[in-house]
Amino acid sequence: MPTPEFRKQYLMNFKHVHRIAALSVALACANASALQSGEDVPFITSPDNVTLEMLSAARVGPKDHVLDLGSGDGRIVITAAKRFGASGMGVEIVPDLVERSNRSAKDAGVADRVSFRVQDLFKTDLAQATVITMYLLQEVNLQLRPAILGLKPGTRVVSHDWDMGDWAPDRTTVVAVPDKKVGLEKSSKIHLWTVPAKVAGLWCGAGLLRGASLELAQKFQRFEGTLRHRNRARELKGTVEGSTLRSVTEKAGELVLEVSGSQMRLVAAGGPLTLAQGQSFTRAGPEGCR
Ligand SMILES: C[S@@+](CC[C@H](N)C(=O)[O-])C[C@H]1O[C@@H](n2cnc3c(N)ncnc32)[C@H](O)[C@@H]1O
Repeated sequence: MPTPEFRKQYLMNFKHVHRIAALSVALACANASALQSGEDVPFITSPDNVTLEMLSAARVGPKDHVLDLGSGDGRIVITAAKRFGASGMGVEIVPDLVERSNRSAKDAGVADRVSFRVQDLFKTDLAQATVITMYLLQEVNLQLRPAILGLKPGTRVVSHDWDMGDWAPDRTTVVAVPDKKVGLEKSSKIHLWTVPAKVAGLWCGAGLLRGASLELAQKFQRFEGTLRHRNRARELKGTVEGSTLRSVTEKAGELVLEVSGSQMRLVAAGGPLTLAQGQSFTRAGPEGCR
C-alpha cells in the first residue's frame, strides 16, 4: 500500500502533468515512484457527467462488456451496468479501492454483472472487452496502444482527457467540469476510438469482381489505395470504422466494404461497380492476384 505521503507526492505529479503538460519530467518522477507501489497513475475520479459522456460516446448497451483500466472507486463500470445495462469489470492496483468498488456494486444492485479485481492493468486480458475505458496518462495510453490495436475490430476505447499520440481519436467531446481539481481548464476531453480492422495489402476480386484488385495502405483508421477493374484504376481514400471501410472520392464515388477475416465484401458502390454489390475480394496469397 502506498503511504499517504507518497500518494500526496504522486497526486502533485499528476496535477503538474495536467497543468503544464510537461509529460517527460513529471512522468519520469511519477514512474520512478510508481515502480515502488505498482501504481502508474494516481486515484482521481471521473466526475459523473464525464462518466456518462464516456459511456454514451461509446454507445454502451446491454450487449457490451466494459473494462475500466485503473477503475478507482468503480464508478464507470457500475454506471455502465446500472444506467446502460452492460456487464463489466474493473482492474485496479489499490486493494482498498477494489473493496470499495465491490461494496458499491452490491449497493447499486449490479454485483451480478460487474466485478472488480486487484490487478495490474498491463497484465489484463483486454480481449474480453467490447468497450475499454481509461483515465490514465498519455504515456500509459501509448504503452497500451499496441495491444489495443490488436483487439477485435469494432472494440471501442474511450479515454478521459488523454489521447494516444498520432492515433487520432475518431471523435472528441468536451464536457464542462466547473470544479475540476487538476489542470487549468474547467472542462474534460473525452476521446473515442474504434479499433480498425487491418486492411493493408493486396485483395483479389472473386465472382463478378474476378480480375479486379484492391491495393490498400493503412495508417490506423485511415486508408488509401487503388481499385483496378477492367483496365481502369480508381483512387480510393477513406476510413476504417471497425470492420467497415468507407471511401468517398470525386472520381470513384462512394464505396463501402465489410471485412471479415480474409474476405472483404462490397456492400455499396456507385458507378460501374453497382452491379457487383454483394461480391467479395479475398486477401491475396504470396503469388498475388491471378
Ligand atoms: C485517474 S484514476 C481513474 C479512476 C477511474 N477509472 C475513474 O475514471 O474514475 C487512475 C486509477 O488507476 C489506478 N492504477 C494506476 N496504475 C495502475 C496499474 N498499473 N494497474 C491497475 N490500476 C492502476 C490508480 O490506483 C487509480 O485508481
